Amino acid sequence: MYSSDQPRESPLESRIALITGASAGIGQQCALHFAQLGAKLILNARREPNLAQLAKQLDDQYPTTDGSPRAVFVAGDAADQSTIDEMMVSTALLNPQAGPQEQNSPDIVLVNAGRGLNGSVMTSDTTQWEEMVRTNLIGAARLIRSAGHALSALQESRNWPDKPADLVVLGSTVGRHISPFSSMYGSTKFAVNSLAEAARRELGPKGVRVSLIEPGIVKSEFQQVAGYDQGKFGDLMDSISPVLSPMDIARTIGFIISQPAGMHISDVVIRSTRQEYP
Ligand SMILES: NC(=O)c1ccc[n+]([C@@H]2O[C@H](COP(=O)([O-])OP(=O)(O)OC[C@H]3O[C@@H](n4cnc5c(N)ncnc54)[C@H](OP(=O)(O)O)[C@@H]3O)[C@@H](O)[C@H]2O)c1
Repeated sequence: MYSSDQPRESPLESRIALITGASAGIGQQCALHFAQLGAKLILNARREPNLAQLAKQLDDQYPTTDGSPRAVFVAGDAADQSTIDEMMVSTALLNPQAGPQEQNSPDIVLVNAGRGLNGSVMTSDTTQWEEMVRTNLIGAARLIRSAGHALSALQESRNWPDKPADLVVLGSTVGRHISPFSSMYGSTKFAVNSLAEAARRELGPKGVRVSLIEPGIVKSEFQQVAGYDQGKFGDLMDSISPVLSPMDIARTIGFIISQPAGMHISDVVIRSTRQEYP
């Protein structure tokens, strides 16, 4: 499934993935799927109980052979530099036998924490603008910066192209095609789209793959947090059903990061088959 010439059952064995927004939705399903593929995990979100429960589930389900945990978590705001720094240094807890450079950096970073906002520039709730921009744009930029430095130093220290390093960023179809109905949210994803492509150009030559994933409608907590009208949005979901599930996105990302280091699937748009717009 993961490589035509060399099928592997655990393509992420000996890799360490940092995931923001892992307490729900796409991030949570990525944690479960990456662990199933063999990775260890550093999990982040603000809801500590959800993370503790997920980390325990992963430890129980996928015990490691070296006595280190399968997953650790750092609860906190992903847009705070201190949270990002704490996540990066947590790599050492999962990699006790490794050399210093490999203890400094995971080799998969998923920039996923984010939130939506119902409405356009004219109609959306202005009191939520700053928090959304901070989470979706500033937080993503801070993590891309920290992870970009760490992943490129990691690649410089080891035998590339034997080993891949991945920075995967969650954009959106509304960050590629303009949707007037969620234009404030869409503007943050247009910005993330440009940050990811710029990082790809800067980091690709250093052996770091930067991939932008742009999902259409995925059923998760996202719709409720964004404040969508349940009735209207429910009708839209019904009209394009079946809508995507978070695991659909996790499987796609799992496929991308499982490819050999010299090959890069950089941009992926994923929609449910019946979603014609955006
Ligand atoms: N669902 C969709 O239709 C869709 C479509 C395209 C793109 N996306 C993007 O995909 C990503 C994940 O969305 P989702 O559908 O999985 O949404 P979700 O179910 O609402 O999950 C969002 C996750 O982000 C976390 N989070 C939010 N703000 C945070 C912050 N400041 N610091 C740390 N964690 C934070 C939440 O956890 P806590 O509340 O515990 O912090 C939660 O774990 C987002 O970037 C979103 O924009 C979603």
